[in-house]
Amino acid sequence: MIEDILSPASISNNLDTRFIGQRVIYYPRLTSTMDVAKQEAQQGAAEGTIVVADEQTAGKGRLERDWLSPEGSIALSIILYPSLPHLPSLIMVASLAVVHSIEAVTGLKSQVKWPNDILINGRKVCGILIESEVRGDTVDYTIVGIGVNVNFRLSAFPEIQSIATSLYDELGREVSRLSLVQRLLAEIERLYLSLPAGRSVYEEWRDRLVTLGKRVQVKSGETVYEGIAESVADDGSLLLRRPDGSLTRIVAGDVTLMVN
Ligand code: BTN
Repeated sequence: MIEDILSPASISNNLDTRFIGQRVIYYPRLTSTMDVAKQEAQQGAAEGTIVVADEQTAGKGRLERDWLSPEGSIALSIILYPSLPHLPSLIMVASLAVVHSIEAVTGLKSQVKWPNDILINGRKVCGILIESEVRGDTVDYTIVGIGVNVNFRLSAFPEIQSIATSLYDELGREVSRLSLVQRLLAEIERLYLSLPAGRSVYEEWRDRLVTLGKRVQVKSGETVYEGIAESVADDGSLLLRRPDGSLTRIVAGDVTLMVN
């Protein structure tokens, strides 16, 4: 395996950012980078501080699911202090940054599946988990957690093999996690700083969604909706055209693409 330890010194070396990744908290092995990032944020860590691990033993996914982060993964959490209006855009920032950096470092094209999965050839290569503490109109902190399947073979994990992929499996060779992390941090900073300027992040995210125009089933809480994924609003919610012609707005959920 490529020896690319994601240590503070190696990540900071030639890192092209002003604040994201300028402080790195690194663990070879950790339960979840989300937990440490949360503690750091509660103690007022500088914006852009990242927590990174080579391996997580209790990685967290959305909707209380587990997230597998064996050796060879990228498991990263970034501490941000966005304004409340920018909060819904962070999933767009993170998704686009992952797509751009995977393409820049490997040449592979990936797609965004609403709300927060990054797919290559229909299989999940990256998941994003965003957790925020909000009080009234104030965001105390946000943690953007990103897990990328990089240098491991999915054949070693039969339980997710049919739905997931790794960069190794797609390319047939290993990828420098360090290059990918550095590029990802630079892309996140660039897109995050562009938010006050307007709609370009939303528009690019919308245009890259593989979900739109497809017949889908969406599970949101205990409710399952079916229809055509018609569009997304600029707050990130999905607009679903139901068989009776009505339009339903879904804020969070799990999408299954159906065979038309
Ligand atoms: C999902 O698709 O359900 C989201 C997965 C998010 C995984 C990342 S890995 C880094 C960070 N630490 C965690 O425990 N989870 C997120």
